[in-house]
Amino acid sequence: MKRIALLTSGGDCQSLNATMRGVAKTLYQSMDNVEIYGILDGYKGLIYGNYKKMKPSDFSGILTQGGTIIGTSRQPFKLMKVIDDSGLDKVKAMKANYKKMKLDCLVIMGGNGTHKTANLLREEGLNVVTCPKTIDNDIWGTDMTFGFQSAVDIATNAIDCIHTTAASHGRVFIVEVMGHKAGWMTLHAGIAAGADIILLPEIPYDIDKVVSAIQSRIEQGKRFSILAVAEGAISKEDAALPKKQYKKKLKEMPYPSISYKVGKEIEEKTGQEIRITVPGHTQRGGEPCPYDRVISTRLGVAAANLVLKEQYGFMAALQNNEIIPVPLEEVAGKLKTVNPEASIIKEAKALGICFGD
Ligand code: F6P
Repeated sequence: MKRIALLTSGGDCQSLNATMRGVAKTLYQSMDNVEIYGILDGYKGLIYGNYKKMKPSDFSGILTQGGTIIGTSRQPFKLMKVIDDSGLDKVKAMKANYKKMKLDCLVIMGGNGTHKTANLLREEGLNVVTCPKTIDNDIWGTDMTFGFQSAVDIATNAIDCIHTTAASHGRVFIVEVMGHKAGWMTLHAGIAAGADIILLPEIPYDIDKVVSAIQSRIEQGKRFSILAVAEGAISKEDAALPKKQYKKKLKEMPYPSISYKVGKEIEEKTGQEIRITVPGHTQRGGEPCPYDRVISTRLGVAAANLVLKEQYGFMAALQNNEIIPVPLEEVAGKLKTVNPEASIIKEAKALGICFGD
């Protein structure tokens, strides 16, 4: 008899359900007496003891369904050990609910913050297995996170749509792509959709380089330029600031996001008409692409196998197209970002894509 709980935490993405289906189907197939619980709304549910018993039928028909059937929420890691105003010790509460539910293991699907808390729970003695979820693809220890490819499809489609209208109008278009502090989505969607300029957090830009790339396109008789700008893109000048000072500057920035700052500067320097598109949370929505359905299924099966083998404290990860267990203590607290020296950047530059550096 095993009692397992599933927990999805942080921003949602397209193939959380596909991953849970992989875990649940494998467990139900392998054991006659397994009980699966769904912790509701991420770590919040574990803190406050909100959960429901799942049935095998809950996992049917969800392979293609976006979002998460058990809900999610953001519970910042930095606040986990902080006693809240009502005197609640969140870590103690999570451990108590785990014990009360008589769980053998928690299977947690989440991104970077989620993995820090998962590792904390492991350190506190709970049995934990995780799967790498995020559209940002920034989890250390896995080549790919599930959700990334589906989100890249949506961002690519947004830039593709801009391409047709850009060709008619002769303007400068900016599409702002999600990804938090990592440029993976912008890089992939930018290359896939033929953006002329790609600005990533990992390669601070010089606005004059961006402007001269636009001007050189105008001189070549090109009617438009398309920029794929990561939401975390940063100028060389700002990248040189101490972190605290940059955070303060960001808060005081008189623009809704970085793309509007870049747009304003380009407009002032070139006199070009600028249009900005922010697909935002559409990038996390809709159904998972086939690639994500496959890796989610594989990662889900692998997580269930770790549970069956009682091999706790690991993240099921994809490395060189194989699924392998990576210790949680190696994953937690590290970020996988784009290496500015990577061959994909050199290949994009060889095509003439400007990174503003
Ligand atoms: O981590 C996924 C992500 O979509 C990031 O790309 C983005 O910065 C962030 O979440 C947005 O968070 P929220 O949904 O809380 O606004």
